[in-house]
Amino acid sequence: MVRQRRSQVISDGNKADKSTNSSSSNGSSTFNGKPGKKANLFSYWKHFIVGTVLSIAVCFGYMGYLETRVNTPLDDKKVVTKSGLDVPDLFWGTYRPGTYFGLKTREPHSMVTGLMWYFPRQLRLGGDGIRHWCEQSDNLEKFGWLQHDAHNFGIQEIIDGPFRLLTSFVKRPGGFRGGEWTSRISVDFSTADDRMVDEEVSLIWYTALDEETMGYLEPTNSATKITGIRGKTPTLGEFTLKFTNTTGLLVHESFLSTTVPGIDLLKETVFASLRLSQDKSQKSEKIVLGGQLTSFIGNEKINPNLVAIQLTGKVPFAVDVVFESASSSNKQETLVGKTYTKALAWHKNRFDQKFEDVFGLKAKGYSEKHIAFAQAALSNMVGGIGYFYGASKVQSTYSEEPVNYWRAPLYTAVPSRSFFPRGFLWDEGFHGLLISEWDVDVELDIISHWFDLMNAEGWIPREQILGVEALAKVPAEFVVQKNTNANPPTFFLTLDHILDRFEDSLTDDRLAVLDRLYPRLQAWYAWFNSTQKGATAGSYRWRGRDADSQLELNPKTLTSGLDDYPRASHPDASERHVDLYCWMAVAARVMARLADLLAIDGRRYRQTAEYLFDNELLDSLHWSEYANVYADYGLHTDAVKLTRPTPLPRSQNRNLEMRRSVLKTPEHRLVDSTFGYVGLFPFLLHLVRPDSPKLGRILQDLRNPELLWTPFGLRSLSKSSPLYMRRNTEHDPPYWRGQIWINVNFLALRALHHYARVEGPYRVKAQSVYGELRENVVGNVMRRYFETGFVWEQYNDRTGEGSGCKPFTGWSALVVLMMGERY
Ligand SMILES: *[C@@H]1O[C@H](CO)[C@@H](O)[C@H](O)[C@H]1NC(C)=O
Ligand SMILES: *[C@@H]1O[C@H](CO)[C@@H](O)[C@H](O)[C@H]1NC(C)=O
Repeated sequence: MVRQRRSQVISDGNKADKSTNSSSSNGSSTFNGKPGKKANLFSYWKHFIVGTVLSIAVCFGYMGYLETRVNTPLDDKKVVTKSGLDVPDLFWGTYRPGTYFGLKTREPHSMVTGLMWYFPRQLRLGGDGIRHWCEQSDNLEKFGWLQHDAHNFGIQEIIDGPFRLLTSFVKRPGGFRGGEWTSRISVDFSTADDRMVDEEVSLIWYTALDEETMGYLEPTNSATKITGIRGKTPTLGEFTLKFTNTTGLLVHESFLSTTVPGIDLLKETVFASLRLSQDKSQKSEKIVLGGQLTSFIGNEKINPNLVAIQLTGKVPFAVDVVFESASSSNKQETLVGKTYTKALAWHKNRFDQKFEDVFGLKAKGYSEKHIAFAQAALSNMVGGIGYFYGASKVQSTYSEEPVNYWRAPLYTAVPSRSFFPRGFLWDEGFHGLLISEWDVDVELDIISHWFDLMNAEGWIPREQILGVEALAKVPAEFVVQKNTNANPPTFFLTLDHILDRFEDSLTDDRLAVLDRLYPRLQAWYAWFNSTQKGATAGSYRWRGRDADSQLELNPKTLTSGLDDYPRASHPDASERHVDLYCWMAVAARVMARLADLLAIDGRRYRQTAEYLFDNELLDSLHWSEYANVYADYGLHTDAVKLTRPTPLPRSQNRNLEMRRSVLKTPEHRLVDSTFGYVGLFPFLLHLVRPDSPKLGRILQDLRNPELLWTPFGLRSLSKSSPLYMRRNTEHDPPYWRGQIWINVNFLALRALHHYARVEGPYRVKAQSVYGELRENVVGNVMRRYFETGFVWEQYNDRTGEGSGCKPFTGWSALVVLMMGERY
């Protein structure tokens, strides 16, 4: 579901067209509608008797109750019990994954601090050329963490044209205000060929207080040192930021102290303040920050909430930014210069060791270069963990207008720092497989935050857009989350994984988390089991498909996570979705397992799991004897195509948008002409019995190059499927219609690994396909990383090239688990 935004951006223009086209008819229908409604009400009132008044009042009361449930938190103890300064170790972090380099604290309102940079020669109108938020349009050759341990340190490499920036940080505990840290920014040429004399780069380091943080910020001056920043907030107490140039020559420095309306406007504010200044000695001009710019409301001065320092240096140069808290009576040396270099080396060393302990890649014979790739993939996953605070916009089926969810924090990883720098529900379950391997307590904290976002209905919104920085990145039509819409409950996979790997080392603290989590998992399960139930006993159906869609070749199923993967052509209530059936089976089994662990009665879940894992039920609902595949069921025809309507004679409709034509009447049937990821689910989630001949058949189809097999991994839709690589509308390119996705390839490897280990006639076959697939996927993702500098959202099934957005170190980073064979 990550992808809905892509297609939307493309079809924006088309949306606008649509509303202008239909505005006249819309307008008249609202006009007609209103008097009609009034007339109805009027005749209603005439016939009133006291009894109906009462029952209507009760009914309205009940509707009112239903309406409010969407933004009422679930009434049970919260899973997160400690945050902010109570977890000093995780207090500061790179929790703003949407910026190239930004730090903040885990508290609702925080001071934010971070880096912008630009090349004075390339600065453009409107601030183009200033780097701040990770934007694909910046066209950086490369950026991302080389190492990041999720706690104490990180090193990031950024290649921007001829320059290479390294941004690193090291935290140091101490005091009672969440500790201190130093960050080093070094700028060099990216290759020896690029060495140009007299090249300059301007770094801007800023600190800002968001709209609700009390306190102050101000620049500090001293005759001998570079300008620094001093400030105070209720949680941080008094602090200073000092800048030291450790190597190279700074040409000039300047500062800005001003007021920003919101922390989503930092770059704009900084850019607006830049001005040219005459450098008398060198007879040249330089670009400097605006200095003290006081804002007023009436006659009253507003305290500045943004202070930025610009340091322009001759490449190569390096600057240390030292954050110190007045509360730390650290007798240690300041973390700067050589002391910093030493601390960084110590952390690097420890990281290398832990990485080998956890994934064992050296032991498996991987080279240094391959290990460096794997370290980068993991580091971008954990270095991409953010801390967000705000309220979603949600829409209940019982209300007309969207309302605000309650304000809440979310500690979560993100799919892509440039394109999706916020939390996504089903992605996060996949992320959790890798994060828990690295640090199970961090993962439990992430899960805890997500489940605290559950409402009274047992629903968790699937896309989390919290706070102004996150909101600024999302087109308006995607902001509202609907409470009928599900998303695969992948957190059950994560929990299963955690139990597999750590059941013997579950400390009391970890058990206590699971204990607090359990009632919320129950509510979640019940929500799925009731709202996503299918018409036939034992079946399930994704909601949220548009049965009235005129333009789509096959109405999308965004809720399933697989967006445009073809399902029944005519959505109706008879549909049953095989992937959701399998998710529900796994969910029930994991619930039963957790109940056992926590000594709670889990019989209901065990019964449901047994019921759903029963291959007879599965086969009766989803196996096609005709095509020998597992499939969805619904009202379907393959005979659909996009055609352009011929404009009526003398009509104004110039360029009519292509629409779907249905050439044959759809029938209720299995959608078995389509084969791909969805049909694999009974295998992917281990539902197929190891001795089932259907397993043999699946392994054969999987390995068939005419169907799913490619030298780069399994493609999402079989080449033989009618909609293979077809556009869904004129404006929607294929997305899950052939491209290779790493999360599903991970599930396939995990399943092959499983079937190669349990007793059954297909063990040997599973083992051999496993070996080949693992090499193909890992090999291709690595090759493309070395070629392009990035891990990608998906891969082309013909060429293996990366496609979609980049960097995408959400579930594509699961390649690290494949390398280490941790399933
Ligand atoms: C920066 O550091 C270098 C060497 O460490 C030194 O020569 C120089 O004077 C310092 N100051 C500035 C403003 O560059
Ligand atoms: C799920 O729903 C079915 C009915 O649709 C019910 O029989 C089953 O007990 C439910 N499972 C759980 C664990 O509540």
